Amino acid sequence: MYKSLIRPMLFRMDPENIHQLIFDGLKFYKHLPPARSVMKSRMHSGLVLKDLRFRSRIGLAAGLDKGAEVYDELADFGFGFIEIGTITPNRQYGNPKPRIFRLVEDESLISRTGFNNPGIRVILERLADSLHRKYVLGANINRDPTSTGKGIVDDFLLLFEKLYDEVDYFTINWGSIDPKDFEAVIEALTIYRQDKSMCRKIFIKLPADIPMEVVDKVVVLARKYQTDGFIATGPTMDRGGLKFLTTIESDSIGAGGVSGKGIGDKSRKVVQYLAAQVKGEFIIIGAGGIMTPRDAVAMIASGADLIQIYSAFIYEGPGIVKAMDRALSRDK
Ligand SMILES: Cc1cc2nc3c(=O)[nH]c(=O)nc-3n(C[C@H](O)[C@H](O)[C@H](O)COP(=O)(O)O)c2cc1C
Repeated sequence: MYKSLIRPMLFRMDPENIHQLIFDGLKFYKHLPPARSVMKSRMHSGLVLKDLRFRSRIGLAAGLDKGAEVYDELADFGFGFIEIGTITPNRQYGNPKPRIFRLVEDESLISRTGFNNPGIRVILERLADSLHRKYVLGANINRDPTSTGKGIVDDFLLLFEKLYDEVDYFTINWGSIDPKDFEAVIEALTIYRQDKSMCRKIFIKLPADIPMEVVDKVVVLARKYQTDGFIATGPTMDRGGLKFLTTIESDSIGAGGVSGKGIGDKSRKVVQYLAAQVKGEFIIIGAGGIMTPRDAVAMIASGADLIQIYSAFIYEGPGIVKAMDRALSRDK
């Protein structure tokens, strides 16, 4: 029904307008308790990893609910974990629109949203009612684009500190800051959490185009600071996986990373590589190009403990979460 009836109507609109419309709908749905209890039916494939209890192995990737507007309502669709953000200390407007492009035939998205989000003050207000949640909540954090030098570490520490009691894990994107700054950030965060009774998890998110020798370096860093897991991967800059996009169309879109089917097997290769080295030592979250239940099973078979989706939610609709969950339970 989503693909034959709802999606054709939604896809007539600009991606960001439709995003707003759906978010407004979810804010209304929040006030309909009977509908919410029907939606929250039992999930099949729960597991505990490093003290985190995942009621399903499927998570929502960063970028859909950047501003923590409807994370609780989104969780009703069956996600075991939701990642809000990317969050920065101050409000950011991101890149000029249009900045999200749907490539329907390729079941992919090209995006260059930037860090658009309302900033930590607003996010904290929105997290106030998340106390009794039954899903794992993560925050993807980054610096303000104008911060440099020591200011970068300060930005991450500020976000870590402010969100420490609100979320279960933090994600830091490798490649979004210089490697030297990245190490300083990880060091500062791990020192901060040493003194805390609750040890919030730190995940490192890798880009799809990361060379394997760089993965090795990140693993060394992760071991040194005893971070907890990897998200492999984010979007790719390579447009070679987009079969239907002409060079003229690609040029007219301009810069941006490819999400969805166009990532091909890049993410799975990084997961396989990681799993060969660190399976059982770190949590591995497979992300990128997981569009179908079969892709979800393949990602877990490649060594991921959990998976995250973004594009599949847009292209297949909310039912994809339970369909993937059923496939993973059958495959156990
Ligand atoms: C419009 C859009 C915005 C995104 N914003 C973020 C973001 O703010 N932070 C981040 O770490 N990843 C962001 N991502 C990347 C996703 O979290 C995910 O890693 C990527 O889309 C690959 O997963 P998919 O193939 O299931 O879409 C964004 C992706 C899209 C399409």
